Amino acid sequence: MDKKKYEALCFRAKAGDILLKITRSEMEIGMKNVLFIASEAVPFIKTGGLADVVGALPKYFNKDEFDVRVMIPKYTCIPWEYREKMVYKTHFYIDLAWRTQYVGVFEMEYQGVTFYFIDNEFYFSGPKPYSWIHEDIEKFAFFSKAALSAIPTLGFRPDIIHCHDWQTGLVPVYLKERFAQGEFYQGVKSVMTIHNLKFQGIWDLKKVKDITGLPDSYFTSDKLEAYKDANYLKGGIVYADKVTTVSQTYAQEIKTPFFGEGLDGLMSARSNDLCGIVNGLDYDEYCPFKDTRIAKRFTVDTFRKNKVSNKLSLQEELGLDKDPKVMMLGIVSRLTDQKGFDLIDYVMDELCQDAVQIVVLGTGEAKYENMFRHFAWKYSNKVSANIFYSEDMSHKIYASADAFLMPSLFEPCGLSQLMSLRYGTLPIVRETGGLKDTVEPYNEFEKTGTGFSFSNYNAHEMLGTIRYAEHIYYDKKRDWNKIVERAMEQDFSWKNSAKQYETLYKELIGE
Ligand code: ADP
Ligand code: GLC
Repeated sequence: MDKKKYEALCFRAKAGDILLKITRSEMEIGMKNVLFIASEAVPFIKTGGLADVVGALPKYFNKDEFDVRVMIPKYTCIPWEYREKMVYKTHFYIDLAWRTQYVGVFEMEYQGVTFYFIDNEFYFSGPKPYSWIHEDIEKFAFFSKAALSAIPTLGFRPDIIHCHDWQTGLVPVYLKERFAQGEFYQGVKSVMTIHNLKFQGIWDLKKVKDITGLPDSYFTSDKLEAYKDANYLKGGIVYADKVTTVSQTYAQEIKTPFFGEGLDGLMSARSNDLCGIVNGLDYDEYCPFKDTRIAKRFTVDTFRKNKVSNKLSLQEELGLDKDPKVMMLGIVSRLTDQKGFDLIDYVMDELCQDAVQIVVLGTGEAKYENMFRHFAWKYSNKVSANIFYSEDMSHKIYASADAFLMPSLFEPCGLSQLMSLRYGTLPIVRETGGLKDTVEPYNEFEKTGTGFSFSNYNAHEMLGTIRYAEHIYYDKKRDWNKIVERAMEQDFSWKNSAKQYETLYKELIGE
């Protein structure tokens, strides 16, 4: 069918109208259309790796076969430089609980990808995308319903709706419960990607019934109910056609009680439809030889000299001792229990007796923010605590540090270790989830490996591994540099993983 006719049909398909007279065959235009629905995406809004994935992955599909677009909320905290470029498309109203709510639809192209933005300042204003859970529960019920209602106005009918994390867990539910009855949505498949099973969007069952307007029959233990509460992510996992997570190891781990966060039974039940696809990196954004945020650019041939220039410049900026030789450990992270900071707390005094500098960039739980402030005060020439969010500073740390510490308790994938590898900063990680899948531990006998790892969640096991890395750094510099070369030569671009998503989409569409 030609594009004009298709667009005319979509125009007829008014939002909320479930009796659309458009059939699947009429819609056929050869391309496979995918719509990502998510709560954050770079460069517009980012609180963690989810935004990196949703913003970057769509760029890496084969454009002759796949048209992948993204829909996120139009938060008022998105920088004005982007908001001013968003183009108004349409608006309409939907019902949510007892309210009738405005839905604005805006559009913008960024680096060849079409982004849609759902506007409603009642829900999407404030300094951050997320607030109290009871507010977020209503906010993302609205977003899910508004997103589905907006699709017919886009001139773009997705074959697959790809949802990310609990904030969009209701999308597959609403899709099956009401939207799929309209012809426009018939045959539309859904994928649910779990970036972090820890966050599920759990709230009081009765309130969620009121907010969502979903019938009672949806709130049973095989559907949206879990442990007497309503659970958005569970809904998404139950109703999506396929479920993915962001590394193969995490896909296995979440079927066990420790990592399963109460949903391990469900993960096992859905294991035939569950797979792990490891995250990639936006190699244009994280590129040591093109990066304009760092003091001195470098390649695998020039890192020996130029990484040191970055280190000296960062030491100066942060007021640390200027020492080209000292081993610098970097940390860039949300400061939460997930990331293993209690291990660091436990051995920090011991670690600070060594010839190391530690540079931290992060925000999060007050106990960890204060812990790093305390150590920066106690060891002021060795430890630098930067308790804020800064893309610029993160790039400087990836480029300047010699090693990167990421001793996570669990880690669905992790992007920081991939960024470190790319910048020749050797990751020291705990063997869990994506860290296990992406960092190959150094083997001094076979001369293989791209970093260092330890297996048990134990502070002294971590310290032992850091000290082993110190030994290689100080006493076997040639070997260290070889590990850096291997690390920088790893390919964690999105190329390979995007192919796996393409295969999954084709399977789902039946090709
Ligand atoms: P998670 O998504 O669990 O936070 P990831 O490793 O997948 O962990 O992704 C974290 C992302 O957030 C990386 O891009 C990292 O550089 C970035 N990041 C975390 N904290 C900060 C900060 N304070 N300033 C700048 N970037 C940060
Ligand atoms: C989550 C996970 C992290 C993963 C990111 C992107 O925030 O904690 O491990 O890399 O999502 O998928």
